Order: sequence, then C-alpha cells, then structure tokens
Amino acid sequence: MKKFKLLIIDDLPENISLMTNILKDDYEIVVANSAHLGLELAKKDPKVDLILLDIVMPQIDGYEVCKILKSHVCTQDIPVIFLTILDEASDVEKGFLSGGVDYVTKPFEPSILKARVKTHCILASQKKELKRFNHSLEALVVERTKELEQANLQVERLARQAALGDVIAMIAHQWKQPISVISMAVNYVLSDIELGQLNPEETQREMQNIIKQIDHMTSTIDNFRNFFKPNKEKQIVNVIEFFDCLRDLMRAVLSHYGIDLTIEFNGVETLEIYKNELLQVVINLINNAKDAIVSNGIQNGKITIKLHKLNNGVNVEICDNGGGILESVAEKLTEAYVTTKGDKEGTGLGLYMSKMIVQKHLQGTLDWYNQNGGACFCITIPQ
Ligand SMILES: Nc1ncnc2c1ncn2[C@@H]1O[C@H](COP(=O)(O)OP(=O)(O)OP(=O)(O)O)[C@@H](O)[C@H]1O
Ligand SMILES: [Mg+2]
Repeated sequence: MKKFKLLIIDDLPENISLMTNILKDDYEIVVANSAHLGLELAKKDPKVDLILLDIVMPQIDGYEVCKILKSHVCTQDIPVIFLTILDEASDVEKGFLSGGVDYVTKPFEPSILKARVKTHCILASQKKELKRFNHSLEALVVERTKELEQANLQVERLARQAALGDVIAMIAHQWKQPISVISMAVNYVLSDIELGQLNPEETQREMQNIIKQIDHMTSTIDNFRNFFKPNKEKQIVNVIEFFDCLRDLMRAVLSHYGIDLTIEFNGVETLEIYKNELLQVVINLINNAKDAIVSNGIQNGKITIKLHKLNNGVNVEICDNGGGILESVAEKLTEAYVTTKGDKEGTGLGLYMSKMIVQKHLQGTLDWYNQNGGACFCITIPQ
C-alpha cells in the first residue's frame, strides 16, 4: 500500500528528529526547519497528505502559516496538526480557528502522535476520494443532462413531424370531396362538348362551382395550418350564411346522388364559432351520410340538419336515412382509421378529426345514435 506523505514544519531540529523517528517506518517524511520553507514545500509538493506544524516559530508563527495554507487552493485541503507545548484551551481554540484539524502536545507520546496522524491521514484520503467521486458524478450528470436535452430535442422534432403528418392527412381527407366535385364538373363540361351540347349558362355554373371548391381547398390548407395554434378568435357567424355556404359546397354531390338536404333553424340566428372548422366537421358528417345512403342503395336519400337552442349552447343535429351505424364500429367510431368502407373508399379519419375539432377547438361534444332507419350525429357547442 502507498505510504502517506507527511510534512513536518518545526524550527527545532531535535523535535524534527524525534518525530521522524516515531513516524518514519509508516510514513514518507519531508521536513522544513522554517515557516517559509514549509510553505514553499507544501505548495510545491502535491503529494503531501498531512502537515505537522509547530506553533511557536520565529518570524511567522504556526497559526499564521496555517491561515496561509488554508487560503491557497493547492494547500487548503491538506489537514494540519499543530505541535504545541502549550495545552491551554485558548491556544487549542486558536489552532482550530486558524484551520487546524487537531493538535499534539510536546513532549510527544508516540502512540498518541501515531494515532492522530493515522486518523487524519485516513480521513483526508477518504475526503479526497469523495471529492473525486463527486467530480466524476457531476461530470456524469452534465453528460446525462446533455444526452437528455438531445433526446428531448429529438422527441420534439418527432412530435412536430407527427403533427405535420396529422395535418397533411387531415388536408388530404378534406380535399377528397372537392377534388371529386371538380372532376365531376369537368366531366360534365367535357361530355357536353363531345355531344355538341355545350350550354354557356351551365358551363358557367360548373366553372363557378369549380372556383368555389378550389377556394374551399385553399381555406382548408389555412384551417389546418393554423389548427395547432391556440388563442384564435372565435367569430359570430350568421347561420343562414353558414349553411348557404355549406349547400354551395355540397350541392353538386347531393344532386348527383339525388339526396335531399333540409335545414331547420328553429330560431337560431347566430353562432359564436370558428366558422371554417365547424364547416369541415359538417362536411364530414354529410359525406358520411351520403356514403351510407349510396352504399345501401337508398332511393330517396334524405339528410336533415336541425338546430336547437339550449340554455348555454346550441345543438346541431345531422340525421340521415342511410341505414344507420353498423354495430361492429359503433363503439369505436371516433377512433382513427376505423372504417367500414375498405381501403380505397375510406381512411376512417373523418369522425376522428371531427371529434377532435369539436372537442378541442369548439369546446363541444359529438354524439351519435341510430334512429328511424338512419344515423344521427349531434354536435353540441357551448355559446
Ligand atoms: N351517417 C352514417 N351512417 C352509417 N355509418 C356511418 C355514418 N357515419 C359514419 N359511419 C360509420 O363510421 C365509420 C367511420 O367514419 P369516418 O368518417 O371516420 O371514416 P370513413 O368515412 O370510413 O372514411 P373517410 O372519412 O376517410 O372517408 C364509417 O366507415 C361508417 O362505418
Ligand atoms: Mg368519413
């Protein structure tokens, strides 16, 4: 085992040799016969583990030396044991106040000297070890914190990507219907041309319809681009204008499938909402009703929208006669990717997105039930 190294600072050679004799077998020893030399050696030699320091010395006394040692970074951790002929309480106290850890009185009792030196060498080395351990622990904490920060950044990046993915999926979903309307309109005009029956008024109507659908597609991008931004201003919307706009957008599809759309306002005149977001929801619900009516081959397809005033809000109920919601999906209807329409026709995102818009953005609820051979979806929005 490595020997501890002691520095003895004493101006009396006989004291130095006495101590050296007692300690030399167990310790490596360096000596200084003056305070100046002692300070110099202590600063120069980083391997000194403990200092035995005489109190009474010419020029600088032991207390002063100890204070100087404690004020330097490179020597402040070396424990100092005072050597004193004095055994008075005030001297002992002064020694402790100047930074000593212990004292030994002269004449030396070898066993006491050995015991004190050993205890303080061990204590100091354990302290050093602990300090080293703390340093490496701190370094580890810094390293782990950095790693965590990196991981957090990565998670944020992924979350942003996922949110972007959601937005793209939502836009794609909401674009399906206008794209099919535009394609229908173009086909009408093309077949009129082919048949030589081009009618300027009808062509103009189709073109206007195309422009409306394109405007709606553009506003869909804006809606979903702002989708995750909180603190948007709600608008006071005139319900007649709102449902006129809806009719305009859905007219082509509904008339194509011969579906009748009735709207009952029941005294509701305005709504305080995010207009475009409610529009996206109602379009989804009407498309679903249309899909049910078409796929079940219902002849007189009918969709009814009824508004009802509540004490603290408004109900918008959308019912159809398309055969109702299948039991197999009724429980998990608003989960993402739940669909009965097969891969090509449905993504199963419509109701998931609608519920999210109603709950998170309109602070409302979306419920559904089957009734009179059809499905009813009920949006409740607080006002
Ligand atoms: N009015 C309705 N009548 C009967 N079933 C409905 C009605 N609305 C929704 N559903 C059922 O709920 C399922 C989920 O609807 P959702 O709108 O979430 O997805 P989707 O319509 O299947 O697909 P996408 O919306 O992508 O076209 C539908 O597949 C259908 O089975
Ligand atoms: Mg749908």
